[in-house]
Amino acid sequence: TTAATALALTVTGATFAAAGCDDGEIVVKFSHVTNTDKHPKGIAASLLEQRINDEMNGTMCMEVFPNSTLYNDNKVLEAMLQGDVQLAAPSLSKFEKFTKQFRIFDLPFMFKDVNAVDAFQASDAGQDLLDSMQRRGLQGLGYWHNGMKQMSANVPLVAPTDANGLKFRVQSSDVLVAQMEAIGGSPQKMAFSEVYGALQQGVVDGQENTWSNIYGKKFFEVQDGVTETNHGIIDYLVVTSVDWLDSLDPAVRDQFLTILGEVTDVRNKESTAVNEAAKASIVEAGGTIRTLTAEQRQDWVETMMPVWDKFSKDVGQENIDAAQAINA
Ligand code: LMR
Repeated sequence: TTAATALALTVTGATFAAAGCDDGEIVVKFSHVTNTDKHPKGIAASLLEQRINDEMNGTMCMEVFPNSTLYNDNKVLEAMLQGDVQLAAPSLSKFEKFTKQFRIFDLPFMFKDVNAVDAFQASDAGQDLLDSMQRRGLQGLGYWHNGMKQMSANVPLVAPTDANGLKFRVQSSDVLVAQMEAIGGSPQKMAFSEVYGALQQGVVDGQENTWSNIYGKKFFEVQDGVTETNHGIIDYLVVTSVDWLDSLDPAVRDQFLTILGEVTDVRNKESTAVNEAAKASIVEAGGTIRTLTAEQRQDWVETMMPVWDKFSKDVGQENIDAAQAINA
């Protein structure tokens, strides 16, 4: 459908869910919160959109809404259960209202790198988590990688004690609240779309995020610098509603899931490179990056790791042991 026809049809009152989709196509709205380029999720979402629209033309039509233009992550899962959006990829930190099992991904220093995260997700334990919210109407379809988190603030952060008394934005996760409290910070849960403004206006002093998010949303411009702590991860669950998935014809569902699986495999292999490129872009743009000696980093490990005790019941000691075995 051309833009002009779509507009004409909309004006004449035809029931079109999406301007770029043809009558009779199954419309898949995919809402996410990050930028689209130099970002693992942004790139993967665009590739998925392109492949669905090329290969399933006439059957299915995907529209991606990036940059929180449709919903922020705190609203998108409710909207999905209402049938207003069909696909999302919120970070694993944002499912707390639905399951506590994902807390393993937020525990600081649980995974040594994205390959370890990948291996855990590929294990039986990781795959079982995809189905853990079916009772609540949500179906995980796969994991998309972002990468390791770094710390930033409006003052230099070298030792964890430098964070004493600072206000930190965190995603909506009690594990991340506890982690920031462990370093003497005062955490504040906040939607991703609000973070730049909050840092700029001093509502919060600092935040933690991946290179691609720090670059993509320009956080480094309103921070003293970014400290390369690699203390945790941000990864995503590609998620849909059980009802919507059940509503698809089996052949359509299979084709959709096959394309999604292929996009997942292709783009997950590139996530680390995408973050490295974003890191280089921060330096190029004049941002400050601080690295830590092994000894300095060990200080952060020792200060943050006691948080595990508080959440080991939620995530299961056997899962912690499995994750640690992968690191070894
Ligand atoms: C955040 O809220 O910081 C991240 O979850 C955003 C994202 O989707 O990477």
